[in-house]
Formats: sequence, C-alpha cells, structure tokens
Amino acid sequence: MASITIRQLDESLKQRLRLRAARNGRSMEDEVRVLLREAAESESAQIEKSAGAEESSPGKSRGRRTEPSADTTRVLLVIGGGIAAYKSLDLVRRLRERHMYVRVILTRAAQHFITPLSAGAIAGERVFTDLFDADGELDVGHIRLAREADLIVVAPATADLMAKLANGHADDLATAVLLATAAKVLLAPAMNPHMWANKATQRNRARLEADGFAFIGPNEGEMAESGERGKGRMAEPLEIAGAVEKLLAASADHPLAGKRVVITSGPTHEPIDPVRYIANRSSGKQGHAIAAAAAAAGADVTLISGPVTLPDPAGVSVIRVESAREMLAAVEKALPANIAIFAAAVADWRVKDAGQQKIKKAPGARTPELALVENPDILATVAHRTRQRPTLVIGFAAETQNVVANAQKKLQSKACDWIVANDVSPQTGIMGGDSNTVMLVSAQGVESWPPQSKEDVARMLVARIAQTITEKKKT
Ligand code: C5P
Repeated sequence: MASITIRQLDESLKQRLRLRAARNGRSMEDEVRVLLREAAESESAQIEKSAGAEESSPGKSRGRRTEPSADTTRVLLVIGGGIAAYKSLDLVRRLRERHMYVRVILTRAAQHFITPLSAGAIAGERVFTDLFDADGELDVGHIRLAREADLIVVAPATADLMAKLANGHADDLATAVLLATAAKVLLAPAMNPHMWANKATQRNRARLEADGFAFIGPNEGEMAESGERGKGRMAEPLEIAGAVEKLLAASADHPLAGKRVVITSGPTHEPIDPVRYIANRSSGKQGHAIAAAAAAAGADVTLISGPVTLPDPAGVSVIRVESAREMLAAVEKALPANIAIFAAAVADWRVKDAGQQKIKKAPGARTPELALVENPDILATVAHRTRQRPTLVIGFAAETQNVVANAQKKLQSKACDWIVANDVSPQTGIMGGDSNTVMLVSAQGVESWPPQSKEDVARMLVARIAQTITEKKKT
C-alpha cells in the first residue's frame, strides 16, 4: 500500500492538519487517512447520485440490476488497497456505460479507502468482501465468482496483491478468486514509484506476465500521496476500460485462449518383432485438423500422434509415439488439460510377447501364431479419472454398422462427454479420405452434421467446444 509523507506537505497545510488532528484526538497520519476516506466517499456519493438520477429516468438501465442475460459481458473488478481505489469507482461507471455487468470485490485494505456501500451503489449490486462469508458461500461463493467472469480486472493492483498473485496465495476472497479463475486477468498497478521499481515487484511483474496476466500502466506522473513524481500512477479509468474492450475482443477471436487441449491422432503401430507391426488405415487427417483448429482458436495444444505422413500443424506441440501404450503414457504426461479429444485409431490389441529379434522363416518350420493381448483404452482411462479429469472428454467412434447405437454405448462405457461418430465402411471413403460425415452424440442427443471437409468438421467441433465451455462458465 502507498505511504503518506506528511513531512513534504507545505508548512501552512501541515499547521492546519496538526490543529485538526489535535482537535479530533488523532495522530496526523490518522487524520490524513480520515480526510482521504471522506474525499473518496464524497466523490463516490456524487457518482452515486448521478447513477441514481439515471436509474430513475426512463430508458436508462444503469441502476440496481437483476441477473444479466447469457450474452452480457461479465467483468469482475477487484479493488485493492491504495489511494487510487477511488478512481476504480469511476471505472465501474465506465464499464457499465459499455453495457458490461460489473461485480466488485473489495480487499480488506481497499476498505480503508472506499466502503462496500459506495462501491455497491455504483456497481448496482452488493459488493463481495469475505472469503468465509456464510451468505456469500451459499449464494455466490468464490468459485462461482471466478467462473462467472469473462474478464477480471484488478485496479488498483498493489505491490502486495501482485506478490500474492505471483506466488499463488489464496488467503482472502480476491486472491482465492484470482487463483480459481480461468478468465483473462488485467492488472492496473498503482503504487509508489520506488515500490514499482523495486526488484521484487519487477520480478513479480515478469512472472505474472509469463503466467498470462495482462497489464495496463502504471503511468508516469504526480503521485497522490507524497508530492512525488514517477512511474506508479494507476492508469485512468477510461484507459482501463479501453484495455478491457481490447482484451474481450481478442478473446472473441480466440475463444479457447488459456485452455489446454490434448489430442490423439493417427493409427498406432503394434510391433510383432523389430521390423513388422500391426497397423490400421487411419491417416491422422481428422485429428491433425482438430489440433490446427484448436490452436487457431488460441488453445495451448499438445498433439500426440501415432505414425503419420502429415506435416505438424502450426503452433502445436507434437509428441510422436508408435504404440498404444506409448500413446497412453504421453497423454497422461500431458495432463492436466481442460479438454481431451481422442481422435486416434488406437489398436485394440497388441502382440503378446513381441519378438526381440526378427522372426525367421525356415524351411519346414511351423507358421508362427500370434497371440494378442488387449491394449489399454486411453479414452476410457482418462474419462474415468477422478483426479485431473479434463472438463470435456471427447471420443471418436469409427463404425461400419449401427453407428448411432454403438456410439451411444461407447458414451456410457467409456464415460466420455461426447462421441464424434462416423461410418467408416469402405464405400464412404472416409478412412484416409479428405472429407467426413459425422454425428455428435452426447447425453443431450444425436446431431447429424453435413458432409464436409475434415478441416470444416474440426472447425465446427472447436466452435462447439468453445460455446459449451462458455456456457458452463455462465451457469
Ligand atoms: O476403438 P473404439 O471404437 O473403441 O474407439 C473409440 C474411441 O476410443 C476413440 O476415440 C479412440 O481414440 C479411443 N480409444 C482409445 N484407446 C483404445 C481404443 C480406443 O483411446 N485402446
């Protein structure tokens, strides 16, 4: 939190402050705190008054609100403890002017500068302050606050809040929400210039940037508290509102930004001996197309591919494997992930005791018989996990008959969320071909998609995933 240097005030101001402090029986520092608090509250009362006036005028919708509709942008504003906190009240107004639904969390330190009452009046709903608020937990707990935000703004982001975020602390409502959210977070730092320049703060800033936090400011200028100049002023509310709009636009282009996606693709090769193997006709085209589409939607994609002749999709980290067992190990290593898509045609069986040396044909010798053992089911293993189960687990079902019935059975037995089912009878040309006709089978029902290129199937699937994940966040 910023410090106040009374020494640097001019003499007549100091004298008046001394008198006032003596009259009220407070220290000079306490008197300054009271004055600042009163100033912030009178500012917020004015804003409150104008918000109230707008509320009562017909056609305006900025008063106390009911729950927003599903397509309203939800911003969660965390107000930290600094003198700049009073500017955050104006930020609430600016965001609401842009038709955003704003919820506010005040940290304990912030309540030295503004009150839940004034922030609540401007936000148009109750303000959240406590991690262990009995009403809050029953009503809107920290996990819900975290999930229901399209974007979180921390303004002012104090040096202390930044340090806590950089180290994953969660000892109050604000930090618990920030640790639990999958939404993009924008920080608007505000602090004394020396605190901003301090190596520890800069170390935390770099770490937070590497972790994907966005920053606006701090700006250069006069500091509120000590007559000092330098870099440490919080960005102006209009600048922050502009940054919010930009981030929201970017996330609309990249609906899977911040999501980790693991995808399997291609066939597996199950060795018979060092030179021979059992394989299938999968080309990997569909799985690779999904990886490319997910990466284009901003996801962090790990593609675990069996042997294919396709180039690696751009912007995807590719892990090459041969057998089903190697594929399972690579998938488990790639977890945790938000979404897992199992497009690979994994061999159901492998050769029991595959030869360490090439099996030789010898005159008069018996033809070798291959005994098979079952491979692990990668999809079922991941979907049945209790720890680190991805939120959305999607399997494929390549069938040659009773496509829907078999897909529904697989949905149950493998415990996945969706099955992308298709008919791979040789006459369809799907296996190895460039187009695909699929059905999306889920607990909600069966949806037939039109015949289209594997790239278009991939784009449609990714769009559906993005939509579902957004809806899950809003419910
Ligand atoms: O082979 P099957 O029709 O059971 O495959 C259905 C789904 O299960 C596919 O998504 C496939 O990638 C996955 N699978 C798997 N591991 C296996 C067999 C299938 O992940 N051993």
